[in-house]
Amino acid sequence: MKKMLTGLQPTGVITLGNYIGAIKQMVKYQDEYESYLFIADLHSITVPQDPTELSKNIKSLLALYIACGIDPNKNIIFIQSENEYHANISWLLECNTYYGELSRMTQFKDKSKKQVNFTSGLFTYPVLMAADILAYDADYVPVGVDQKQHVELARDIAIRFNKKYGDTFTIPEPLISASGTKIMDLVDPTKKMSKSSDNQKGVIRLLDDVNVIRKKIMGATTDSEMIVKFDPINKPGISNLINIYSAITNMSISDIESKFSTSNYGQFKREVADVVIDEITKIQNKYNEIINSDTLNEILDNGIKITREIAKKKFEDMKHKMGFMRV
Ligand code: TYM
Repeated sequence: MKKMLTGLQPTGVITLGNYIGAIKQMVKYQDEYESYLFIADLHSITVPQDPTELSKNIKSLLALYIACGIDPNKNIIFIQSENEYHANISWLLECNTYYGELSRMTQFKDKSKKQVNFTSGLFTYPVLMAADILAYDADYVPVGVDQKQHVELARDIAIRFNKKYGDTFTIPEPLISASGTKIMDLVDPTKKMSKSSDNQKGVIRLLDDVNVIRKKIMGATTDSEMIVKFDPINKPGISNLINIYSAITNMSISDIESKFSTSNYGQFKREVADVVIDEITKIQNKYNEIINSDTLNEILDNGIKITREIAKKKFEDMKHKMGFMRV
């Protein structure tokens, strides 16, 4: 069976973009692949985090995974920081990754620009991500398009390591959905919907009040043409709403264009809000049901037991091949 793996950072409530880009895909393929889903808490500390908030966010993200339809019987779910082998493997990979490669990562360039003083963890972040993926020999990595470059780097590192030390890693592929590859900000649809956006009106979070969600969608930036047509260059706002509608309903872009060919933007936005709210309400109901249940801990205990074994084996194999042994 092919393997699929992804992780999300526990930095505040996840957005509709995170949901569509990563979680919905995990749900879609969870019957087909051996699935691993983790909470990327080690990645989150590449920028400053409040420790109390971080632990709350870890628990909340776990509950959201389940609420979004991730089946704990079909997915191995765990917390990255509980598995010490990720950081260990990452170091071995770091010493097989070039400074130049990391300097070319667009996310690093963007994020480092925003900080006066950034950590070296922000720079080496993609190597830890490679470790997460390669430790489990993942074939597929469901991500939004913003993480594609990192998965490609993981491929390059794996190919290099295999060549140098012998066959060790499966070469992973990013799994990017057709619609919703990148959900854009509702206020500024030329930039991606991001948790860290300055203007929260452009960002839908899965635990937002549904009335607030409706307001955000009704207030989304559009254009003056009044035609519901997919044209990301000239009509980024409407195209983004079409993408969201398509990702939630599974309707094709052309079917959506036909369905709304005689609608004005107000009518279209109302329908987008309806489908988004319908989906998010189900998630919120389930979330409230499980956030305080003991099963969350059981899920994590099971996940860490399995993943520690797998990652340990990979780490030992790497060490052995690299010459870390007594002779
Ligand atoms: P993170 O936490 O920034 O984002 C989680 C997932 O959501 C996707 N995403 C989006 N997709 C569509 N539209 C958007 N506006 C949008 N914003 C975010 C991201 O592409 C991602 O798939 N480094 C990763 C976490 C990670 C990881 C890994 C992922 C750590 N190790 C190994 C896969 C495999 C991250 O920071 O994602």
